[in-house]
Amino acid sequence: MKNVKNTIRLAGVSIVALSAVFGPSSALAETVFEIAFNQPESHPQYKAMERFGEALAERTNGEYTVKIFPNELLGAQKETVEMAQTGTIAMSLAAASLLESWNPDFVVFNLPYVFDSIEHQKSVVNNPEIVGDLYNSVADQGIVVVAAFTAGSRNVYLKDHPVNTPEDLAGQKIRVMQSQTNIDMMNMMGGNGIAMGQGEVYTAIQTGVLDGGENNEVTYWSLKHSEIAPYFSYTQHLMIPDYLVMNVDYFEDMPDDVKQIFLEELQKAADYEFEVFAEDAAKSRALAEEAGAQFNDVDLQPFRDAVRPLTEEKLTSDVTKKIYSQMHPASE
Ligand code: GCU
Repeated sequence: MKNVKNTIRLAGVSIVALSAVFGPSSALAETVFEIAFNQPESHPQYKAMERFGEALAERTNGEYTVKIFPNELLGAQKETVEMAQTGTIAMSLAAASLLESWNPDFVVFNLPYVFDSIEHQKSVVNNPEIVGDLYNSVADQGIVVVAAFTAGSRNVYLKDHPVNTPEDLAGQKIRVMQSQTNIDMMNMMGGNGIAMGQGEVYTAIQTGVLDGGENNEVTYWSLKHSEIAPYFSYTQHLMIPDYLVMNVDYFEDMPDDVKQIFLEELQKAADYEFEVFAEDAAKSRALAEEAGAQFNDVDLQPFRDAVRPLTEEKLTSDVTKKIYSQMHPASE
């Protein structure tokens, strides 16, 4: 039997057409969704998406799978969300705060101290009863959020000294993600928030453009920020989820049965990622400590007090107020 294999590459999706004659259960064409990722293959989110791709392929008899491009190969998060929007790629894994540029209501999960714990975050961000239409609210702009992953908690790290109080951040230029909420938050915490993509941070700290950054232990270690900013202080100010953002046409074009498998397997991948993230964070901390970084616990109260006005300031729409009150039923 002669197999002729043609790979036709369309925007965001590779289609492999097989012209041979197959049995009834064999796939006729393979759709490969391309996913942009800004961190290395060792990251728990990479592993979760890889598992997702394998399960999708298995359950669709090889018709659908994914290809992940790690390490900002396709660009920084903001640009790759735009690429998903135009359909240049199918998906981008991006921090939730970036979505505020598409719809300000996304702010609700990006506020300081909004989640009490990772368990609380898990019970909220993939719960359709709480999230409501938020993840589909940007469909008319070309994208939808198809899953939410955890990225632990974010903490400040500096080049020269540890942080114990907001005063320790005075005059310190700290990189934050590209969102006005994140900039305002860092300014309220006592520092000077400077927004930029993740890939530029190492050099910016090294050359003195920045005095430090803020992130979880996994990213701190894997991007070697521990080498240039060895004082990591547990301010735990944010617990921002990461979203898998997908081009709406690629999502809608899947037949219903495939869509169902797609969403089921994504949920499993997100559950897996939530399970393993904390372990990975602990390993990253241990490795950074061995390499000379210093970690300190922080009294959170002064930081909570400093950023409190931001929540009221940012929760202005009915959508965000409703989500917030469902997240905190006791405070109603
Ligand atoms: C975390 C988060 C990423 C984000 C990064 C950043 O690592 O998981 O999605 O890109 O922080 O600070 O930019």
